[in-house]
Amino acid sequence: MEKTYLQKIEETASYIKDKIGVMPDTAVILGTGLGDLVNHISDARELDYKTIPNFPVSTVEGHSGKLIFGQLGGRYVMAMQGRFHYYEGYDMKEVTFPVRVMKALGVEKLFVSNAAGGMNKEFEVGDIMVITDHINLFPENPLRGKNYNELGPRFPAMTEPYSLKLISLADSIAEEKGIRLMHGVYVGTAGPTFETPAEYEYFRIIGGDAVGMSTVPEVIVANHAGLTVFGVSVITDLGGKDIKEVPSHEEVQKAALKAQPVMTALIKEMMARI
Ligand code: HPA
Repeated sequence: MEKTYLQKIEETASYIKDKIGVMPDTAVILGTGLGDLVNHISDARELDYKTIPNFPVSTVEGHSGKLIFGQLGGRYVMAMQGRFHYYEGYDMKEVTFPVRVMKALGVEKLFVSNAAGGMNKEFEVGDIMVITDHINLFPENPLRGKNYNELGPRFPAMTEPYSLKLISLADSIAEEKGIRLMHGVYVGTAGPTFETPAEYEYFRIIGGDAVGMSTVPEVIVANHAGLTVFGVSVITDLGGKDIKEVPSHEEVQKAALKAQPVMTALIKEMMARI
């Protein structure tokens, strides 16, 4: 008989527990711009996605797929190096499967990062934006379909999708370290196209500050599962009706790399203080 979604989550979680032993209460999804964080994880133990039962395998250029367990800023964490994007063809259950597994492992706090295009006129390339809220413009909600009450409620509230407490901690650290830390609303779209000038403008008018192709599905599932979430974007390009620069994958990677040391310092310090 085919395994149910719940059985798959349980099977994957018990495989990981058997391999690793002690489980962390904090997880980090390393998007573009935070990849370097893994080099700051000490006593690291890794599991390749390929070896984990039921785990999808990451395909995008610049992303490798591993779970890494170890110490970061004095805290025992698990990090996901490489995430599953909807534009790659994964369905929403696959995109968000790792978040379900994290919860089954005992994770309570989830940190997510990504690269995003800025619409807010105050933003500059290389800025770091704490995600205060999001707008889901993916064509599908990851919770569509059968609800498993064991995993969370049918109609979950999304009133504080990103923890106000963690946002305020990030602000304090930024002030101490002299980091220019912006706040904003992240618009999540399916991609893989970047936006037309009119689309960037539209996203700005509806209340968005930055747009990207990830994060929202994982954060919806994390909220459903009762996790506390912190999200951060690196602004890798700017879009709007007067902006002529053409974003490219290479430019996005380049800008994200530049912001990386600051992102890493911020997250590492947060780990030490939560
Ligand atoms: N749009 C969508 N996704 C992105 C962008 C963008 O401008 N930049 C980085 N990821």
